[in-house]
Amino acid sequence: MQQRLIVGNLKMWWREKEEIETYLRQLNASWLRTDADVEYIVCPPQVFLDYVGQGVPQSVGLGAQDVFWEESGAYTGGVSALMLRSCGVKYVIVGHSERRMLGETDEQVGWKVVSVLDAGMRVILCVGETREERDSGRTVDILKRQLSLGIAGVDKVVLENLVIAYEPRWAVGTDRTPGSLEIRDVVDVIQSNLKSYFGQGAENVRILYGGSVHQENFSMVCIEPGLDGVLVGRESLDPESFLQLGRIS
Ligand code: PGA
Repeated sequence: MQQRLIVGNLKMWWREKEEIETYLRQLNASWLRTDADVEYIVCPPQVFLDYVGQGVPQSVGLGAQDVFWEESGAYTGGVSALMLRSCGVKYVIVGHSERRMLGETDEQVGWKVVSVLDAGMRVILCVGETREERDSGRTVDILKRQLSLGIAGVDKVVLENLVIAYEPRWAVGTDRTPGSLEIRDVVDVIQSNLKSYFGQGAENVRILYGGSVHQENFSMVCIEPGLDGVLVGRESLDPESFLQLGRIS
């Protein structure tokens, strides 16, 4: 069994550098009490990648929240996979619902996935339905489309670098989480689709759950068979609560 993966998506919550100093101080202090056999990743805003990368405990890995798909060129505001790699980034979140809501397409998500894998990093591809899509019975169709276009350019050789995060849009940033049966159904859909795309080797792709994960619901979410960890938003802003997730069995 692979090590459980706990990823903190710090989004754009910090306002200034002083807040990061406090965060890093607390993270290092809490880390001393952590002996969980878990892979922890923190994903700060890109402008602070270097700063956070130098301040986190050595065993905590660095992730990025997004990437632009081209390697280099006249793309104002863009940050490429190669740039992220040179900052020490190991994982890149791609296709987060908060990016999709701003107009990112499934095709663009697929290009981003390829650029991250080509640069030798790991990619966390987010998929998930809206409330309206779920209520109208379209969850499976939406997931299949997001998955098939998201992984269209993925080579079987690099499957252990692919992570899928199921993040129902209606749960992200709210107090709602799906029931365990709903999560299990979606994990089944993801697993069977991965199997039909990749055949043997599909089991090397790790699957996370994300959307309002906190200490109280972590056990429920993480006992689901087929889940390899979680993608956490708000709870990751408090280092002690974030690390505590890995201590809960
Ligand atoms: P949340 O965010 O935990 O604050 O719901 C999760 C995410 O967006 O990855």
